[in-house]
Amino acid sequence: MTRRRRALITGITGQDGSYLCEHLLARDYEVHGTVRPGRDPSTSALGPLLRAGEPGLRVHAVDLTDGDGLTQLVETTAPHEVYNLASLSHVGTSFAEPVHSGEVTGLGVVRLLDAIMRTDPSIRFCQAGSSEMFGAHPPPQSERTPFHPRSPYAAAKVYGHWTTVNYREAYGLHASNGILFAHESPRRGPAFVTRKITTAIPRVLNGEQRRLKLGNLNISRDWGHARDYVEALHRLLSHPEPLDVAIGTGESHTLEEFLDAAFSHVGLDWHDHVEIDPRLYRPADIPAVRCDATMAREVLGWTPRTSFAQLVEEMVRADLATPASRRAR
Ligand SMILES: NC(=O)c1ccc[n+]([C@@H]2O[C@H](COP(=O)([O-])OP(=O)(O)OC[C@H]3O[C@@H](n4cnc5c(N)ncnc54)[C@H](OP(=O)(O)O)[C@@H]3O)[C@@H](O)[C@H]2O)c1
Repeated sequence: MTRRRRALITGITGQDGSYLCEHLLARDYEVHGTVRPGRDPSTSALGPLLRAGEPGLRVHAVDLTDGDGLTQLVETTAPHEVYNLASLSHVGTSFAEPVHSGEVTGLGVVRLLDAIMRTDPSIRFCQAGSSEMFGAHPPPQSERTPFHPRSPYAAAKVYGHWTTVNYREAYGLHASNGILFAHESPRRGPAFVTRKITTAIPRVLNGEQRRLKLGNLNISRDWGHARDYVEALHRLLSHPEPLDVAIGTGESHTLEEFLDAAFSHVGLDWHDHVEIDPRLYRPADIPAVRCDATMAREVLGWTPRTSFAQLVEEMVRADLATPASRRAR
């Protein structure tokens, strides 16, 4: 490989990891990514690139709980840039696995930063933070909003955020936090509510599923497209100064509005197909989220390209086009 810059992406098999990989390869990067030991990356969104034998891409089996493995990985790949996208990213699951969530999503960050600091402190680092860190603070939320995490996931992300700030201040690392608001795509994991909705639509149309069980429909979220958000992370890491920046669209929609947009795309009324299941309510939820993305716009020159309507349509179309045998369950 004789490419200009080298990037290491943890969680490269995930939604954002796969889009970021494509984004960087298109910019002539050599891309290295971690996959969890024992996982087959060819079944992930990275599959098409791996099957095509993309020469600029290498995957490495390393878990974020393995400090020695991460240090060895940073040493051998000698990246210019590290993007930490790996986490147990489902908030609901973090209530069921709070300790593991802290191990991966929280302590994983310090393992990686320590590996960078000891190997080569000139490596730039970007941490994928989350708007979940703001908890119940009313919208709009920005990088200046105080944190009040309302889940094990969010608490672990707050630890990762402050650890990133700490390595910047204590050791002078170019370490930045992208505080990401919710972002979706056809590659979103099937356990997430937006994807649960869009994967249900072909099943409802085919008579395979009558009802879709959902929790609280009154929550509102700032939903963008993952492809746009990885561009923001690349801009953040390429900025001369390390920064903490909130990344979102500045627009919020309720889950009912998402349902409306998705079901009306195929001429259905969601009220006929959705059942509220109180067991799907979270122990502590966040009512409303909307980003004040002034800093992302003014400092990074970033604005999202995909509208809410385009995002929902792309997700519904992709799930309609997926053969029943390959549809996520
Ligand atoms: N998408 C959003 O709306 C959003 C919003 C705010 C913040 N974020 C954060 O942004 C990052 C990317 O999000 P995403 O939507 O791309 O998440 P995702 O699709 O769930 O991807 C997470 C990645 O982390 C990997 N991973 C999980 N546990 C690991 C471990 N112990 N060691 C190594 N890798 C591990 C997963 O591997 P497997 O595929 O093997 O599970 C997967 O590749 C995450 O840190 C997430 O918390 C996302």
